[in-house]
Amino acid sequence: MIVIKSAAEIERMRTSGHLAAVVRDDVAAKVSPGITTMELSEYAGELMKKLGAESAFKGYRGYPGNICISVNDAVVHGIPDQRHIQLGDIVSIDVGVKYEGFIGDTALTVMVGVTDPEVLRLVKTTEKSLEAGIAAALSGKRVSDISNAVEKTVTGAGFSVVRDFVGHGVGRQMHEDPQIPNFGPPGRGAVLKPGMTFAIEPMVNQGGAEVEVQADGWTVLTRDRKLSAHFEHTVAITEGLAQILTI
Ligand code: MF3
Ligand code: CO
Ligand code: CO
Repeated sequence: MIVIKSAAEIERMRTSGHLAAVVRDDVAAKVSPGITTMELSEYAGELMKKLGAESAFKGYRGYPGNICISVNDAVVHGIPDQRHIQLGDIVSIDVGVKYEGFIGDTALTVMVGVTDPEVLRLVKTTEKSLEAGIAAALSGKRVSDISNAVEKTVTGAGFSVVRDFVGHGVGRQMHEDPQIPNFGPPGRGAVLKPGMTFAIEPMVNQGGAEVEVQADGWTVLTRDRKLSAHFEHTVAITEGLAQILTI
């Protein structure tokens, strides 16, 4: 069942989304050679506390971190640890905050002194595919119109879309209906209506689409150990263009 949010609830989602975006961007600005992913996660935790918000991830199905940090061949759900960021890394920062009962979920991929144009193209294509997905999230269209717009952008650039993890509805719960795959034919799934709130989140691989979960039970790696990028926004469906809440 897809939960429709009232106008007042959307305003509360906008606040949660904004706080998630503040944490995302502040952590992203701290990503530099030498810092550990644990230090970034601790910084995120302190910032959430200052903002009066809490991590939507910590404790979720036993997840131990305040945020997810996925470096290079890690696709999503990387657990913060003593790993040091290095020059040339690409680092996905995924932030979920809960504020007064509502969740904002957002991610970006930071390039740390990347000089390889193919890596730049991977990250930019992933960001563009999210924009294409959001542009397709129009009242009256269907869920898979979002999926198809993302996929076309990615495959058109010669990269592959991860199929084992998908976007999702978001609100009082982090993962609500519907699932929003980043692939598939258009015109399928639920009809989009004003008041629906979605986390759209393409995960894009430089090589093959296949992924595997590491022994830690969380970190998702590309099977071929090539790079992967990830961007995510929480958006609200309106009568017009979808509104990005995580800005
Ligand atoms: N933020 C992830 C998503 O975009 C979910 C993370 S679950 C966690 O759906 F437990 F790993 F935090
Ligand atoms: Co997320
Ligand atoms: Co999400």
